[in-house]
Amino acid sequence: MTEEQINTFYELIKDIIENEEYCRMQEYRHHLHSSTFEHSIKVAYLCYRHYLKHGIRMNPKELIRAALLHDYFLYDHHDKKNKTGMIHLIKHPKIALENAVRAYPDLSRNEKNAIKRHMFPLTVIPPTSRCGWLICFYDKVAAIDDCCMHMKKNKIFKNKINFNIS
Ligand SMILES: [Fe+2]
Ligand SMILES: [Fe+2]
Repeated sequence: MTEEQINTFYELIKDIIENEEYCRMQEYRHHLHSSTFEHSIKVAYLCYRHYLKHGIRMNPKELIRAALLHDYFLYDHHDKKNKTGMIHLIKHPKIALENAVRAYPDLSRNEKNAIKRHMFPLTVIPPTSRCGWLICFYDKVAAIDDCCMHMKKNKIFKNKINFNIS
């Protein structure tokens, strides 16, 4: 992406990633080398890059917001006290949706559906919009990447966002 596109992306995510409660996701490890915060931004970034590259007809704000909020849960799922394993995998889209609706009551139907259905095919019902399918796909790409640390060095993460990487 160009510097200008990165700046536009940052403008679109700023509101959410500067929210105090959302920032708490930096405290929770998600995949091997990422917090839930980093992972969510990565999914938003990959979706936005795809949107720019392929000129898909969709609302980019909707796409980015749903991507940022798709894993909006505030606990460490590795901690045995919490919802771990399969229970977490199946339940967390609903928890993320509840948190997202509480924080952003104006979420659209597409955004809600994309958050709720992002774990397809593990959760059986697929998303119903392009936005939902993109998030569903890039969530898997980001999860694999999280385990390889590949995109950690991408300049958007280096220059624009101050991560607390443990
Ligand atoms: Fe998820
Ligand atoms: Fe995710």
